[in-house]
Amino acid sequence: MPETDWTYVTRDFEVVTGEAARPLVEKTNDRRYLTRDGGIHTVSVDRWKLAQDAERHHWLGLRPHLTEDRNTDHAFMYDRYSAIHNQTFENAIELGCGPFTNVAVLAQRCTVKRLSLLDPLIEDYVKHPNCLYRDGALRLQSGARLPIAERFALPIEQFQPPVKYDLVVMLNVIEHCYNVPVIFRKIWDMLTPGGVILFHDRYYDHARVMAEAEMVYHTARPLKVDRGLMNGFIKCFNSIFFRTILTRSEAARSAPRDQVYFVGRKPDAA
Ligand SMILES: C[S@@+](CC[C@H](N)C(=O)[O-])C[C@H]1O[C@@H](n2cnc3c(N)ncnc32)[C@H](O)[C@@H]1O
Repeated sequence: MPETDWTYVTRDFEVVTGEAARPLVEKTNDRRYLTRDGGIHTVSVDRWKLAQDAERHHWLGLRPHLTEDRNTDHAFMYDRYSAIHNQTFENAIELGCGPFTNVAVLAQRCTVKRLSLLDPLIEDYVKHPNCLYRDGALRLQSGARLPIAERFALPIEQFQPPVKYDLVVMLNVIEHCYNVPVIFRKIWDMLTPGGVILFHDRYYDHARVMAEAEMVYHTARPLKVDRGLMNGFIKCFNSIFFRTILTRSEAARSAPRDQVYFVGRKPDAA
């Protein structure tokens, strides 16, 4: 495994590395949340709120000029969402949608009849100058507009879905949450039998998380979930698309990381 360097990412997303980072990480780290073999999949709500404060600051304070969050890259990694091409979904929801969403890209490949969006920061994001759903409809990349049925300003862990969904989209969210076992249960329950999940995130392994828990602290990313836990979730579905890729992270000195792109269908009998 590549060596981990001391790394501390501040609320302003400044990356401090090496000996300068060491006292910072020794003072503030997420080591106490490390599990026996599942990485870090649960943190306190207070730790999560710190991360959400940084996330809000990132989009509204530091990066109001941005127009997307790697949403086009995700489409590319998903082969332009070929797995759901031409399908029709009655009730879709994007969880942890951010200011731009991934539905704005994928809804050009399929038909979404009713769309809901959930993000704890959603009522802040509508103030982002480039938010794609500021006026009650989502502006797709094509320019078409998709009305938003419901906006939920809360974490998935607290979500009580008013309906079942036949499409759940959750890309690049898990690291920002506070209780992954609860989230996996919620997603399973909110899907209709035959419903489709699109799930993408970093694909950690526990040994790496253990090393990083000692030496790396990222204010905005409290969780690092072991791939075994993710695989346990993914295995419950009939797999339609599964791809892992290796990327370099933003900190040049940090090691390459695996990412997973998954599309699955909840079995009809479930
Ligand atoms: C890196 S952004 C990704 C946004 C979007 N999924 C995208 O790909 O453009 C992560 C998002 O997860 C949201 N988030 C954090 N904790 C969450 C939780 N417990 N439930 C749902 N969303 C959460 C954050 O507010 C943030 O908007």
